[in-house]
Amino acid sequence: MGPRVQETHQQGALRKGLPPSPELGDNDLDPLCIIKTIGTGGILSLSPFSAFPLPILGVSLRPGNWRRNEPSDRPCESGPGRLCLHNLFENDIRKSWLVRCHQDFKFKRKNAKNIDLAPMRILAIETSCDDTGAAVLLNGRKILSNVVSSQVSVHQKYGGVVPELASRKHIEMIVPIVNEALERARVTFKQIDGIAVTQGPGLVGSLLIGLSFAKSLAFAARVPFVGVNHIEAHLSAAFLEEKPPKFPFIGLVVSGGHTSVFRVDGFGTFKRVGQTRDDAAGEAFDKVAKLLGLGYPGGPIIDELSMEGNPKAIRFPRASLGKDSFDFSFSGVKTAVVHFVRAHSEPPGGITEEMIRDIVSSFQEAVVDVLVKKTFRAAQHEGLKRVVISGGVAANRLLRQRMGEEALRQRMRVYIPSPIFCTDNAAMVGVVGYEYLKKGVRSPLSLNAFSNLPLR
Ligand SMILES: [Fe+2]
Repeated sequence: MGPRVQETHQQGALRKGLPPSPELGDNDLDPLCIIKTIGTGGILSLSPFSAFPLPILGVSLRPGNWRRNEPSDRPCESGPGRLCLHNLFENDIRKSWLVRCHQDFKFKRKNAKNIDLAPMRILAIETSCDDTGAAVLLNGRKILSNVVSSQVSVHQKYGGVVPELASRKHIEMIVPIVNEALERARVTFKQIDGIAVTQGPGLVGSLLIGLSFAKSLAFAARVPFVGVNHIEAHLSAAFLEEKPPKFPFIGLVVSGGHTSVFRVDGFGTFKRVGQTRDDAAGEAFDKVAKLLGLGYPGGPIIDELSMEGNPKAIRFPRASLGKDSFDFSFSGVKTAVVHFVRAHSEPPGGITEEMIRDIVSSFQEAVVDVLVKKTFRAAQHEGLKRVVISGGVAANRLLRQRMGEEALRQRMRVYIPSPIFCTDNAAMVGVVGYEYLKKGVRSPLSLNAFSNLPLR
């Protein structure tokens, strides 16, 4: 007899006469599931988000008879009209499924080969600042769509985000963006199993647009929804990549609104190790770009111009804030740039284009220096070997390069999401939302938005 070939769950489904689930591979199987729907004579479908227990009618749960239209021959102790799951997952190869009646079902991934699980689709919405984002995720990892509408052109002439204009633009864009996300994902709204939405921190007017919309959708479709912390979403963006990090890790969130370092032990388990005491790093980029008349947003402009400048031309200060501090301060370096520009603005020379390139390059060098040094020091302090960085500034090329070099030097691993997942997007909100919905976390329809929502 030749060696037995392990069949995939798709092959198993075919063998049993069940239609294959084309979007699911073996890696999409989820270890924690709850029964979702059963139709008479239909096919068992599993999802982590539905209410449980559910009543069933006339569906056979006997092994090998999934499609037969007759009651289970194993009565459930929990009473008539309830779903009995005894031996539901038994098959002819293994007899070891762990299934309990009317409780959460935990079964090991390696034993889940022949179970045809329904896809779990999350609609995620992000409106914390000036980007309207919507995404559809399959099982919290696979991106079916990720749509972002940027408001840069609206705020550009003001040199920064104008909260009132941002809110108005979100109102205009939220419906078309969500529709586009559903269309690109090729799913209808009825196929959505749960909704995740950013609750804060951010601009409260902007947050309320996304939150109110998500609540309305959840209420209308009778699906659960959950509010997500924007910082946790940034910290989780790396899970969208092919090689996601493992817990625990040190996470640096660095953007126009935040610069903080966390020890992350799991979804929902954080300890803040350091944070900025004044400006966020991205805010300093925007202010320096504005001072030099370079435009908005400052981050990408400075990143580009710095490539042609000399990073060692000017020695701008690096705030240490004490040997044991993992806090940041960027107001000093920003003020130093202001003083330098004032001191060199007078004729006959003035500030030349070459000087501007050197200024921004030296400024970027100073900011990146501090970010890299403090993040890795925090990792050493916490005894961790993995570093994750995210947020808009994590798209900066010098920061990505230096983080990689330092990780190599210190024999650590650094995880940096692709630039599209570093800036604000709804896919990262979906990652976190999925994890919470899966655990049974639900937000009430009275959920409010908060401009300040610290991670606890
Ligand atoms: Fe953000």
